[in-house]
Amino acid sequence: MAPPPDREPETVHHPGLAEPRTKEDWFAYISYEPPPRPAVPTYEQYLLLDEDDRRRLDRCRSRYHSALVLAWTPAVRHFENEIMELLEANEDAPPGARPGLLIDGPPTVGKSTLTKMIARKFELQLRTDFPERFSSDRLGAYVPVVYISLADQVTPKQISLAFARYLNTPTRGTKDAVDDRVLTALKACGSQLIIFDDLHFLDCSQKDGRASNDHIKFLANHAPCTIVGTGVDLEASPLLSEGGATGRSTQTSGRFSRQVLTPFALDTEADALAWIAVIRSLEDSLQLYRHEPQSLTRRHWQYLHDRTGGSLAGLHALIRRSAVRAVRRGTEAVTREVMDSITLSYAHERGYAKVLQLKERKSAPNAGRSNVADGSGSA
Ligand SMILES: Nc1ncnc2c1ncn2[C@@H]1O[C@H](COP(=O)(O)OP(=O)(O)OP(=O)(O)O)[C@@H](O)[C@H]1O
Ligand SMILES: [Mg+2]
Repeated sequence: MAPPPDREPETVHHPGLAEPRTKEDWFAYISYEPPPRPAVPTYEQYLLLDEDDRRRLDRCRSRYHSALVLAWTPAVRHFENEIMELLEANEDAPPGARPGLLIDGPPTVGKSTLTKMIARKFELQLRTDFPERFSSDRLGAYVPVVYISLADQVTPKQISLAFARYLNTPTRGTKDAVDDRVLTALKACGSQLIIFDDLHFLDCSQKDGRASNDHIKFLANHAPCTIVGTGVDLEASPLLSEGGATGRSTQTSGRFSRQVLTPFALDTEADALAWIAVIRSLEDSLQLYRHEPQSLTRRHWQYLHDRTGGSLAGLHALIRRSAVRAVRRGTEAVTREVMDSITLSYAHERGYAKVLQLKERKSAPNAGRSNVADGSGSA
């Protein structure tokens, strides 16, 4: 008889799905483990399950697929080294302008995810090395990581309040009073790493934006922490831009290095291998009965790049969605057909349409001749 399928875990709460707003949210994110790979009966046994048991098992598998795995890509590893090194170099540095890091990149390349993965790893290492700092009688007293996700058109006061909310210090009073409590709390909590996500919301062309920029500089000066920021088009933002340099923007640019995170490319063999390795790690984690092992990795890596423009978000979404559909339809495999039937985000679909157009043009029977003719005509 078929063994009973795995029950769904009790928890339905996924702290990784929402941005942490408080240290408790962050601690929940640290201790969160994604749904485990469900143990499954053989396919023959599975087909014999009654409707309710099969639905329960399918739901477990879909939950598992919906989380899939986070990939430690070469870019994630690179930023891990950069951030860990910066933390070490800044640990006992004198007060003042500690160097920080800005990770600049287009939307959905994985900036927020990688900073959270790295900060989580940093804190887990501290938990292993200094268990006494995390003992139950000091619960919430030691907060090595502060994660602040900025809101659009953020004002300095909102930044102060976000810190106060995160550290659970009172939010009443003037901005100066809140700041004072925040700086005291940052020291008392032993905070080492501050992450500002979505720094492009600091619109420095606005009065409030400039003031917020100054405020971040003020925090960088007074908090004994390393600051890592992420954002889109940070180079063009007055946060760094030298054009029409106000002393303020150059002060920030003198403190932070800027590094770029780009989508996966296929320009070199090394690029292609890195892309294929990510596909392999996602494909290996599929829990489907009839999926041909390594078929995505070996046969569809180019297609997956065409579909997603090398975006990790697109790849993750496409494989996740296809796996869920394969379970729902009973086809039990992620195939080209299933992937073709998924509509990705508008930006990804538009990018794919352009790739197809380009390929069509190249493969048109007299494409080469007409190009030559055009060229000679204009010469
Ligand atoms: N290392 C990773 N492994 C697997 N999937 C990832 C990874 N990084 C990102 N993703 C996928 O890409 C999605 C988008 O990532 P993320 O939100 O980190 O991008 P972002 O660059 O911060 O985007 P935005 O600029 O819009 O804030 C994630 O929800 C996840 O599905
Ligand atoms: Mg983000």
